[in-house]
Amino acid sequence: MTSPGIAIKNSGAVVLRAQDVWKSYDDGAIAVLRGVDFEARAGETVALCGPSGCGKSTLLHLFGGLDEPDRGHVSVNNVAVNRHRNLLRLLRHEIGFVFQLHNLIPDLTLEENCMIPAVAAGTDKHVARERLHELAERTGLEHRLGHRIQKLSGGERQRTALCRALMNRPKILLADEPTGSLDEKTSATVFDLLLDVAANEGVTLLMATHDRGLAERCDRLLEMHDGRIHEPRRA
Ligand SMILES: Nc1ncnc2c1ncn2[C@@H]1O[C@H](COP(=O)(O)OP(=O)(O)OP(=O)(O)O)[C@@H](O)[C@H]1O
Ligand SMILES: [Mg+2]
Repeated sequence: MTSPGIAIKNSGAVVLRAQDVWKSYDDGAIAVLRGVDFEARAGETVALCGPSGCGKSTLLHLFGGLDEPDRGHVSVNNVAVNRHRNLLRLLRHEIGFVFQLHNLIPDLTLEENCMIPAVAAGTDKHVARERLHELAERTGLEHRLGHRIQKLSGGERQRTALCRALMNRPKILLADEPTGSLDEKTSATVFDLLLDVAANEGVTLLMATHDRGLAERCDRLLEMHDGRIHEPRRA
């Protein structure tokens, strides 16, 4: 039976859309995405599963405007993702990205890393600091704000990456294996936080993961193979 919460999500606006998306590397020698069709609605949590190398990161990068498809259309909030025209606005305001290898700057502190996207977006520093404190409190990192990334544990780094991605209050969070480098217990803790923050802030989550247990806890679970997306179950 469909829960009322899911029914509301199913009726929300489509915020992420891929239409017949193709992507290859090395002049076509490595064909990765071969006609991907996908839609996610506002507030949904969606897990993207599939074997290593099937194209999960590639698809997330296309949605984040970090790369472009060879063919097909990718849109966010019904606006075509165009690397040249609207990329910066998209990255700064509408999308938060948690990278597979967190991509934090090791020599800078947790606070400095998280302030970068806020400063780039032109947010007042006091406002940004307040936001960071709110996120740090929610993720249990208040006591680590002044620590350099290189001194943090793997779980703390992933939580920092989550804070950084959420600094500009994006409505869409793309998370690429956000718990991939963590042990089972830490991974479950970080994922709980991720779901908690997503629900609290009304964020749409698209997450690539190898962890079936975590994937099962999302509203939808998608499988990627043979360059396309398959949906074995839909809530
Ligand atoms: N910049 C690139 N140049 C050439 N090949 C690439 C590039 N990026 C990715 N690939 C190849 O494209 C395929 C898909 O890579 P992708 O990183 O999207 O897979 P993935 O599903 O995220 O894998 P994993 O689960 O290991 O993270 C792989 O075969 C990879 O080697
Ligand atoms: Mg990947």
